[in-house]
Amino acid sequence: MKIDFQETTNDLLKRIDIHSQFGARDIDSWMLDVLQLQKGLRILDVGCGAGKQCFSFHKHLDGKVEITGTDVSESLLAQAVEENEKRGADVKFHLLDFNQPFALPYDYFDLISACFTIYYAQDIPFTLSEMRRVLKSGGRLFTTGPMPTNKAVFYDIIKEATGKPIPPMPGSSRYASEIYGTMEKLFSKVEQHIFENPLTFTDVSPFMVYTRASMSEDRKLWNSLFITHEDFELVMDQIEKVAKARIEKDGSLVMTKVVGGFIATK
Ligand SMILES: C[S@@+](CC[C@H](N)C(=O)[O-])C[C@H]1O[C@@H](n2cnc3c(N)ncnc32)[C@H](O)[C@@H]1O
Repeated sequence: MKIDFQETTNDLLKRIDIHSQFGARDIDSWMLDVLQLQKGLRILDVGCGAGKQCFSFHKHLDGKVEITGTDVSESLLAQAVEENEKRGADVKFHLLDFNQPFALPYDYFDLISACFTIYYAQDIPFTLSEMRRVLKSGGRLFTTGPMPTNKAVFYDIIKEATGKPIPPMPGSSRYASEIYGTMEKLFSKVEQHIFENPLTFTDVSPFMVYTRASMSEDRKLWNSLFITHEDFELVMDQIEKVAKARIEKDGSLVMTKVVGGFIATK
């Protein structure tokens, strides 16, 4: 399955910022709680983006860890390298396209993290097999992705504003259909954890910053609602009106992120 998706640095960083400003909980604390990491591990982060999870692992383990962050986006990797230098950290960042064989040794890593990314893979069994190959025996793969009930309010507002159905989102639909089953087939054990984070908006502006960064033309997932820049702006206006009316009526808009975390052991 070819997914026509491209993350942009700007959009990803804006969404991360809105989550940290308006969310009640911190997803990285939850991740660290669920994973219970030890110092001295070798960690591979696949689809690392600007390095968010890499830096959380590094800080949590006081730098006593070997971390390799990988992504297909040179611009996001450049951002990660810049942040690494700013922090004086020693995370290694490399280009890696998870649709191609990984140029990495067999049985090497203790942990692979792949947060909000695996569902963009063209061939899930291939990508998961490559992950399994480079994990040590007993090593763990941690993947996260949106669950079907994720940000129901957001999709409800878009439906009301446009009068159109929401196109299938690869994250929530592929976990249920392909990813979980393939992990169960390839790994000896799979555990599921759920993270819920309500984001509360009392003003429409940050909600629209999130909406624009989530539905941005560059992300190409929303082509059934808009193709041209003018159409995109029209949809943003319609969404803003609906969101504003809800905030005026209820005093706030609460959008709950519902994320699944899956730990598969080799
Ligand atoms: C939603 S972002 C998540 C980034 C990071 N894990 C985080 O949570 O901040 C999805 C990431 O998947 C990456 N990605 C998409 N297709 C990829 C591929 N074929 N190989 C490697 N990374 C890919 C994107 O470049 C982007 O950085």
